[in-house]
Amino acid sequence: MACEESQTVTKEFRALGHEAYSCDILPTSGDNPEWHIQGDVINHLQNGWDLIIGFPPCTYMTNGGAVRMYPKKGEIDPIRYEKAMDAKEFFMAIFNAPVKHVAIENPLPMKIVGLPDRNQLIHPYQFGDPYSKKTCLWLKNLPDLIPTNVLTEYQPFINGGGGRMNRAHYKGKKFAVGSIARSKTFTGIAKAMAEQWGAK
Ligand SMILES: C[S@@+](CC[C@H](N)C(=O)[O-])C[C@H]1O[C@@H](n2cnc3c(N)ncnc32)[C@H](O)[C@@H]1O
Repeated sequence: MACEESQTVTKEFRALGHEAYSCDILPTSGDNPEWHIQGDVINHLQNGWDLIIGFPPCTYMTNGGAVRMYPKKGEIDPIRYEKAMDAKEFFMAIFNAPVKHVAIENPLPMKIVGLPDRNQLIHPYQFGDPYSKKTCLWLKNLPDLIPTNVLTEYQPFINGGGGRMNRAHYKGKKFAVGSIARSKTFTGIAKAMAEQWGAK
């Protein structure tokens, strides 16, 4: 699991008997540091994995940040745009890793970033967590996730609460990626990934 400090998805794969590892520049906040590779994931993409699921930083690419990308009507903030291009390059490095099965999870990106078309758009409420949050999946050699428990009552997931600011590191550059609490994967989606993709 690339860019996963929480081990949320890693531990669901482990629960099903897979030899899964989380990788993040941060130490893990999960319970199993022995399953965690702390470091730049770019240095670990060639290690012969069967499957990579990536959760790369999205702050400068996400549609939710569009107001800051265009502070004056119609004019792009060049510094923010450059950071978005760095984030895209990092995203694409994971997506194009020499691995048969690849999935990347990120919020809805701004069109201007030019990411490839997503394969699927899901919400936590389709997997048993009572929130709506547009979550995109880019998939290589993996099927769309099938909803496991569609709730009819849910609320928008605006902010997961406080949390430390999280920083991304790529090619020697540092950029904030938002609060850690907000970026953790929902358990229902994590379980579905392990159940449905673990057997591929
Ligand atoms: C949007 S958050 C995803 C968090 C994830 N969903 C979780 O539950 O832990 C992005 C993560 O990417 C990590 N990150 C940023 N640059 C990285 C790099 N070069 N190598 C590995 N992890 C990186 C950050 O530390 C952060 O934990």
